[in-house]
This record gives sequence, C-alpha cells and structure tokens, in this order.
Amino acid sequence: MTDLDAFITGLPKAELHLHIEGSLEPELMFALARRNGIALPYADVEAVRAAYAFSNLQDFLDIYYAGAAVLLTRQDFHDLAMAYFDRAAADGVVHAEIMFDPQTHTARGVPFSEVIEGLLSAIAEAQARHGLTACLIMSFLRHLSEADAFATLEEAGPWLDRIAAVGLDSSELGHPPEKFARVFAAARERGLKCVAHAGEEGPPAYVTGALDALHVDRIDHGNRALEDEALVRRLVDLGMTLTVCPLSNLKLCVVDSLDQHPIDRMLKAGLRATINSDDPAYFGGYVADNYRAVAKARGLSRGDLAQAARNSLTGSFLPGEAIAALCARLDAFVDAA
Ligand code: HPA
Ligand code: ZN
Repeated sequence: MTDLDAFITGLPKAELHLHIEGSLEPELMFALARRNGIALPYADVEAVRAAYAFSNLQDFLDIYYAGAAVLLTRQDFHDLAMAYFDRAAADGVVHAEIMFDPQTHTARGVPFSEVIEGLLSAIAEAQARHGLTACLIMSFLRHLSEADAFATLEEAGPWLDRIAAVGLDSSELGHPPEKFARVFAAARERGLKCVAHAGEEGPPAYVTGALDALHVDRIDHGNRALEDEALVRRLVDLGMTLTVCPLSNLKLCVVDSLDQHPIDRMLKAGLRATINSDDPAYFGGYVADNYRAVAKARGLSRGDLAQAARNSLTGSFLPGEAIAALCARLDAFVDAA
C-alpha cells in the first residue's frame, strides 16, 4: 500500500450515495440464487461480470433490477448489507447513509417488512462489529407513478422513525423532480429529510427542480449543474452537498474518461462535493477506490481528498455533535499524516 492509499483509507469518511442493491457482488448473487432456488440467466460469476458493460443509465438499471431478483428474505437483505458494511469499514467509512429501493422488491411480492427488518438488523450488527453508524434512505423509483410512491410511503408508516430520508432514483430522463413534489412534501411533513438524484443524465433544470419542487437537503450526482453558472453559484450559496460518484460516472458514460471528471472543478468552485461509490458491485469499486481513482486521474491533493471527506461528514444527517466529533477525528488524522 502506498502512502496515498493509506491516507485515503485512513481518512474518516461518510458514504452518502450507496444503493444497497448495487452492492450485490456476483458471488453473493449466485449464493442467494442457490439458497432461494432461483435460476440466473448467467452461467457463472465471470459471465455476470462480463455483462456489466453499460452505455447509459438505463442499460445498467435493466441488469441491476434483474440481479435484485435473488433477494427474497430478511436474511438475504441482512447478508447483503453486512457484506457492504464489512467493505465500507475496511475503507475507513465511519458513517453510511444507504439507499434502498422498496418498490423493486414489493413489486415481486417481497413484503416491505422483510426488506427493512433485514437492513435494520445489519445496521445494528455493523455498529457492534465495526463501530460505524448507518441510516436508511428510502428511495422512490421515478419511472413509476406518484401513486406508487405514495403507496410506498404509506407502507413504510410503521418504520418511519427508523428511516432518515426519502430519495429519488432510477431512470432520470423524462421523469423530472416535479412529478414527486407532493410525495416529498408528505415525507417532509412526516419529519424525513429529502435527497434526489439530479443532473446525472438529466439537465440542469432537474437540479433546479430538485431544489424548488422537492426542497432537497442533498443532490445525488449533480454533475450537469456545472453547465449553468448561476445554478453553481446558488448551490455554493446554499452550501448544498453533492454526492458525486466518479466510477459510476465513468461506467455509465456520464464522463468519457476519468481524466475529464469534474470533481476537482467542483471542489475549486466551492461546491460541497463528496466522493461515493453508488453501486460498487456494478461499477468496479468501493468508496476508497473512488477516492483513489480521482486522486490519480485528476491529481487531487491530500487537501482536496480531506475536503471531500470533510464534506461527507458535514453533509451527513448525523446530529451536529456527532458531526463535530467526526470532523475533529478527521482533523487529527490529517495533522498526524
Ligand atoms: N442513478 C439512478 N438510479 C440508480 C442509480 C443511479 O446512479 N443507481 C441505482 N439506481
Ligand atoms: Zn445513485
């Protein structure tokens, strides 16, 4: 391990943009398929990995939803999340805010309770095993209807005190934030924070829509905001956190190469950009791999990397005292490095 590797791994960081279904490694996919008697359309793990060549978001989503079909029981969701937490802890993640897509599972007849209870038990175990904290972001699939999202919010009723936020993911183009303004208002009334994917493939107007129609606390991705200078100024003035996902951007062709990734431009502009893995099993790397990839491709300094980690702590939904304690830990680490 080089010094820079050790610095990146050792930085106390939060992961704020992670779809738990996107952490399903092919090996676990096969193990769960066997456990649940489900036939997979792949001969072996290598064939699964070979299928992970995407030219856009929708290409990926089709394969991602198909892979999630092996997840049936609360034990499956628990095992999925534990595998992620073990890897996150090894990457220096001290806090994770993980998205889950209930509609992907309830549409297949999996009860909401199985999904959430499996994830909650993994969060408790991860805290005991690794000392990391985690919370849940319930994401609505934007290609489905407003009514379907409302039904999901209703179904989540008994667990709302254990859900930190609602999110908005899946196919962005053609599904602007405004479609979910009323659902997000209802979620906010119930005390939930709000995040939304915006500006991954969608235009800057979708980022504006996430601010004005959904009143989000964070923007997931946000890359295309850079096309609108006034919007960048607005995001800077708001202190809005962007959860940027470099390897995802590469694999989904949001950027042609990591050499062109805008993370350093974002940081220089004063945007509160963070570095995250999105769907690590599909995009070839966990959070530290994402830090390393942009450090190399864009020549980020240790100061830049520490700023991204600091942004992840201050942009988290942890209480202020916990954020202050983690920032002190980060400062001590950087001073000693
Ligand atoms: N974008 C939109 N939806 C998603 C993503 C993403 O990057 N990953 C999982 N669902
Ligand atoms: Zn995402």
